[in-house]
Amino acid sequence: MPDFRTIIFVSFLICIFLGACTSSPAPNVSSGQNNSSPPPSSPVAKPSVDLMATGRKLYADNCAICHKESGKGGKVEIEGRSISPDDLTGEKIKKMPDDRIYKYIFDGIADEGMPAFKDKLSEAEIREVVRYIRSELQK
Ligand code: HEC
Repeated sequence: MPDFRTIIFVSFLICIFLGACTSSPAPNVSSGQNNSSPPPSSPVAKPSVDLMATGRKLYADNCAICHKESGKGGKVEIEGRSISPDDLTGEKIKKMPDDRIYKYIFDGIADEGMPAFKDKLSEAEIREVVRYIRSELQK
């Protein structure tokens, strides 16, 4: 009959060989029995995921119906009226300063079918849209 210390020692060696003592029990316990642990929260990850997400959504919701998803514009029928929204990706708008574009969006272009957004979008939102046009549509 081997003595108690030998049994402990041999079990210890077996444990080390199987890698069982140190690594596997802990994950098994937490994944197998503790399903209620909250998902890792990442409050700082959100803003860095897609810096253009706000501008893209604002554009899609407010501009794409006329200027198209691509910004290329072209003739459209809106509420029974035929209008011709400008190509926002062309050289003309590329050369236009941000503030001019901002003003067109803010005030609209009366009689030409470009609505004013001053009551619809905040200053920050209009700036986001301009940023989106610059960095995604005009690239
Ligand atoms: C109801 C249709 C419509 C919507 C919605 C619309 N536009 Fe327009 N937009 C036009 C039309 C039409 C023109 C051309 C006006 C003209 O011929 O002078 C225009 C002109 C412009 C111009 C001036 C371009 C130039 O050559 O002077 C800019 C900039 C512009 N739109 C940006 C936007 C942005 C950004 C949005 C969304 C926030 C938007 N538009 C929403 C119809 C629209």
